[in-house]
Amino acid sequence: MTFETILLDKQEGVAFITLNRPEALNALNAALLSEVGEALLSLDKDDDVGAIVITGSEKAFAAGADIKEMAEQSFAEVLKEDKFAAINAVFAAIHKPVIAAVSGYALGGGCELAMACDFIIAAESAKFGQPEIKLGVIPGMGGSQRLTRIIGKSKAMDMILTGRMMDAAEAERAGLVSRIVPTEDLIEHVTEIARGIAHLSLPSVILAKEATNRALETTLTEGLIFERRVFHSLFATNDQKEGMNAFIEKRQPQFKNS
Ligand code: CAA
Repeated sequence: MTFETILLDKQEGVAFITLNRPEALNALNAALLSEVGEALLSLDKDDDVGAIVITGSEKAFAAGADIKEMAEQSFAEVLKEDKFAAINAVFAAIHKPVIAAVSGYALGGGCELAMACDFIIAAESAKFGQPEIKLGVIPGMGGSQRLTRIIGKSKAMDMILTGRMMDAAEAERAGLVSRIVPTEDLIEHVTEIARGIAHLSLPSVILAKEATNRALETTLTEGLIFERRVFHSLFATNDQKEGMNAFIEKRQPQFKNS
């Protein structure tokens, strides 16, 4: 696979997708969104990959959808193109964990891309925002829906109606990011976290992700039943026997993803 707007790297079970349009602070144009989608789908099928990291540059994870690409489009054109539908569909189809490693700006579509990932690790320099209102539009890649579910209505309304930015500390307090790390150590920390996940049993990782996502989509009663059935089903795997026996025998488990 050759890409023009992203870089792809794989090391010890972890794949890194690096957004690479430095001249536009990694603004998400159609080519970049399509390449991210293509890379994710292919890495999800790659047996050498157990976890995926999406990152940008130190200055910008991504400064939003590409304003220059959209500025002159008509209502009929954007409606027909519906360009953010495909990437949301890709994220919904990915089984493996996807971690956003955010340094610098994650604005508009950049914040939405980070939120489409399973969790966000932020550098101290990270800044999140949904500034679309200042452009005369609203978030279009999930911001009004995912941000509200993650940080609650009051703070999401504040962000979306004012277009202001949130720094990493506020984002952590609000539950938007799971951890903050020193900016210069972002990739090292995220690599360690992703590698830890990649060494676990893939069937349990896939089902843990699915069960956790189910919490956002269903009632508590249905979600609890779903979780228990998934828990029960994992007793059909060799890795459950290996994981529990390794604990009892005081050794590290050797998972075989079976
Ligand atoms: N689209 C296209 N180009 C962008 C861009 C974007 N979203 N963000 C930055 N750029 C370009 C700039 O135009 C500039 O290019 P030129 O050198 O050719 O002029 C280059 O990247 C560097 O940007 P700045 O000079 O503006 O850098 P800065 O450090 O002064 O400011 C910033 C950084 C605060 C992030 C500022 O660039 C900015 O406000 N960007 C736009 C943020 C935004 O409004 N995002 C929402 C987009 S709409 C959207 O995302 C819809 C959706 O929901 C999917």
